Amino acid sequence: MELPPGPRSPAVWQTLAWMTRPGAFLRRVHARFGDPATIRTYWTEEPMVLFSSPDSVRAVFRLDPAIAPAGQSWEFLRPFAGPHSILLLDGDEHIRERRLMQAPFHGERMRAFAPMIAELARRELATWSGRVVALERMRELTLDIILRVVFGARDDELTHMHDVIEESLATVRSLPWVLAMAVVRKDLGPRSPWGRFRTAVERFDIEMYALLARRRAEAALPGAGEGGSMLALLLEARDERGNPPSDRHLRDQLVALLVGGHDSSAAALAWAFELLARRPAVQERLRDDDPAYLDAVVKEVLRARPALTIAPRLLLEPTSIAGRTIPAGVQVAACLWLACRREDLWPAASEFRPERWLEGPAPNPLSWIPFGGGVRRCAGAPFAEMEMREVLRAAAGLTLRPARPEPEHARRSMLVLTPNRGGEVLVG
Ligand code: HEM
Repeated sequence: MELPPGPRSPAVWQTLAWMTRPGAFLRRVHARFGDPATIRTYWTEEPMVLFSSPDSVRAVFRLDPAIAPAGQSWEFLRPFAGPHSILLLDGDEHIRERRLMQAPFHGERMRAFAPMIAELARRELATWSGRVVALERMRELTLDIILRVVFGARDDELTHMHDVIEESLATVRSLPWVLAMAVVRKDLGPRSPWGRFRTAVERFDIEMYALLARRRAEAALPGAGEGGSMLALLLEARDERGNPPSDRHLRDQLVALLVGGHDSSAAALAWAFELLARRPAVQERLRDDDPAYLDAVVKEVLRARPALTIAPRLLLEPTSIAGRTIPAGVQVAACLWLACRREDLWPAASEFRPERWLEGPAPNPLSWIPFGGGVRRCAGAPFAEMEMREVLRAAAGLTLRPARPEPEHARRSMLVLTPNRGGEVLVG
């Protein structure tokens, strides 16, 4: 059984293009080979078939997890994510975990976090002047938000936890290290890429378990559980036999939320600043504080620069996807980047036009898939959109200009695509 066509260049070149110029690489692959197309990178052990038309995207999202588990595509995260991580589970276990994790990210509970996010954003943006690298600032801000909302971190804990987490993530964000980890998949001692990663995870775990011990002790006090953090709710959860979650389980849940919600939101916001700095008219309209326009800007940022490029599943059996039989043992992926940016799916796709969300026909929901879809659609999507709205509303008072004339292109940083210079803007 043949795989759909794709580039013939060696995997090492495809990996380099995938890491350093992912947007251009995906555009070229699509222009040359159409949909579907097969790429080979060190990112996954198996070749990966990319789908981006609405029909095939729907088919990928509807694949039965028993024959197309998503968890196995994130296997490389296991040393950090842990065995209980929602990212690695499939089937009933995955659904159970999702129910536990999703509740606080919806409705009233989620909206209750908005004033705190707005305040943190205002404090951060008040320090902006001159040249600012938006990605660096947004990583700080989204980490603060996650630490407070999810971990229930207090002022006295924040700085220390912040540093430990940033240190662990820095190892896996650096491009040379990620490339080295992808090529050499073994731990070759403390100075090797995997060795450094393991040490960082161990340091991170010590912090996590200390935090859990503090929160458990507090949960036993009268009046506990009123803090409203995600962790406070997870601590109260019980399994079918009435047992509380183990520390290991809680730690893995927290890491999934951290991995899912920190870099992705920071990348999306860095793109927002990169795009807005080049569009004074959009900045001007944002100053009117029209909620519909603000929402349109958020949706358009996520469309024009989806922070995650793929939603992959590993095929365990030969399967027909949109009329094409794909053999077992390959990764099939809804290509979020292409679906959101294909010229034949979006009028003037390469233009950043928030107005498209306010005028004309509603876009096809199977083409606007920055949060993936199906049973694995981003558990934090409503939260992420709310966070972006609050930060951009707080930024409306700033005057932004691009630091350089040429727009920034996408590069890969761990799982997400970021502006290659980090979204360099001039403020004031
Ligand atoms: C703009 C920001 C974000 C983007 C673009 C994004 C995107 C995504 C995507 C594409 C997936 C995978 C979907 C799939 O495989 O089909 C995902 C999964 C996930 N995201 Fe997000 N995400 C964002 C923010 C967040 C936030 C703020 C949180 C939580 C605090 C979060 C938590 C998760 C979790 C837990 C999963 C795993 C869901 C599962 O496997 O069932 N994400 N996200």
